[in-house]
Amino acid sequence: MQHSSGYIVGFAVAICLVCALVVAGSAVGLKDRQDANILLDRQKKVLTVAGLMKDGASLPREEIVETFESSILQKVIDLKTGTLNAEIDASGFDQQKAAKNPETSFVAPDNLSKVRRLPNNALVFDVIEDGKLKALILPIEGYGLWGTLYGYIALAPDARTIVGITFYSHKETPGLGGEVDNPRWKARWPGRLAFDDRGKPAIGVKKGLAGSIADDPYNVDGLSGATITSRGVTALVRFWLGENGFGPYLASYRAKAGV
Ligand SMILES: Cc1cc2nc3c(=O)[nH]c(=O)nc-3n(C[C@H](O)[C@H](O)[C@H](O)COP(=O)(O)O)c2cc1C
Repeated sequence: MQHSSGYIVGFAVAICLVCALVVAGSAVGLKDRQDANILLDRQKKVLTVAGLMKDGASLPREEIVETFESSILQKVIDLKTGTLNAEIDASGFDQQKAAKNPETSFVAPDNLSKVRRLPNNALVFDVIEDGKLKALILPIEGYGLWGTLYGYIALAPDARTIVGITFYSHKETPGLGGEVDNPRWKARWPGRLAFDDRGKPAIGVKKGLAGSIADDPYNVDGLSGATITSRGVTALVRFWLGENGFGPYLASYRAKAGV
């Protein structure tokens, strides 16, 4: 039996419609679950950078949530003044969304990290153990070679010594810039110093190998074959530790903590 052209076109259109409905339906239906998984992944990254979870470990969801809730205090701060903004609920605050909305953000000063807008408020984390502050965690982001890298840096209570760094999203090439995810490279960061003696952000990723922490405290080994990503990481870390990023927050913390 031979079908008319109209029948074939109609059949194809019907199949397309059914497929489109299935795809759209599952995208909408799975949105909540995707959002929950994104949140869980962020919590995992925060715990990893704080040294509370082994890099790459796979723990049950309940354990991650429980450790996060018992050890991490989320705070929303005013980025320009560095003071706490208690009016915003930290658990539902999306800093990236806030940075995109002109009503909750402002144009960033020129910077090497290609950060275009800065949020009025930012989400920071305190790591608390036995009632004592163990680390400060700050979100970081900036351009590498192919796109924006998003992650966290953790500082010790002296607000100077690095506890860890991690990225939860980037577009760098696996094996080159993508080595920012390599636990061995990330292990080069703890113990290095984020700021020089005058309080200027000084940490950076150098080309080639860095010396020991004692001899070369402000440098981390370069990512081989990925100088552009390495430079991007240097720029973004310095930007967020600097006066246009978390400088005011860290200054207010230092004044209160007496460090
Ligand atoms: C397909 C392809 C992917 C690349 N991906 C990256 C990358 O993710 N990050 C990076 O810095 N350089 C990447 N590069 C290399 C850069 O173009 C550039 O050569 C490199 O950053 C220079 O680093 P080097 O001086 O350490 O060799 C890539 C090159 C090619 C051809």
